[in-house]
Amino acid sequence: MTEKKMINVALPKGRLGEIVYGMMEQAGYECPEVLNPKRKLTFENEERGVRYFWVKPSDVPIYVERGAADVGVAGKDILLEYSPRVYELLDLGIGKCRMCVAGPKTFRDDESRTLKVATKFPHIARRYYESKGRDISIIKLNGSIEIAPILGLSDVIVDIVETGKTLKENGLDALETIVPISARFIANKASFQFKHDEISAMSQSLSAICQTKE
Ligand code: PRP
Repeated sequence: MTEKKMINVALPKGRLGEIVYGMMEQAGYECPEVLNPKRKLTFENEERGVRYFWVKPSDVPIYVERGAADVGVAGKDILLEYSPRVYELLDLGIGKCRMCVAGPKTFRDDESRTLKVATKFPHIARRYYESKGRDISIIKLNGSIEIAPILGLSDVIVDIVETGKTLKENGLDALETIVPISARFIANKASFQFKHDEISAMSQSLSAICQTKE
């Protein structure tokens, strides 16, 4: 009999990560102390063959790409922005939102001018406008993007819209949808070969849970 290999799982810190852990638990990979971390950084259930750790959501693909984690969960926004070399095994159907162009309600695009776009997602924004043949200049910000058009720093923004509340509160409208976003189960490419049976079994169990949720 071959020895069962442990799967290292990078969970995104925050509410989404807690939902993901709930799905893992349902799939038979329980490790309750994950939800009550105290000072520990990694959490293991040897019998179930799983070891968890929490990381900043945007760092999950880095851990997985470099093999520090075998698998993890990351938003499609992060995957599109950073294009990590990982396998995307499953759409978990949670963390749903959309990547949008948003701007003041009165915004009209004047194509004779370069469009100023503020965003945390410069690659996504650049690719989108390139596909439309629209000339833009990107203003890379790290948060509070909605304020940029209000203060005249940019004409529009490219950002995540979930409920639309943040836009509304700032007098902005979603003008175009670039792409729908949801959380994805990703795997390190080498781990997927070496721990194929274990990772496939995890992916299939999660997939079954996603289907019951639909
Ligand atoms: C995202 C996004 C918007 C907000 C949209 O920010 O940048 O500000 O959520 O959500 P809504 O449509 O439900 O109002 P996030 O909460 O991820 O924080 P951040 O800007 O600090 O990354």
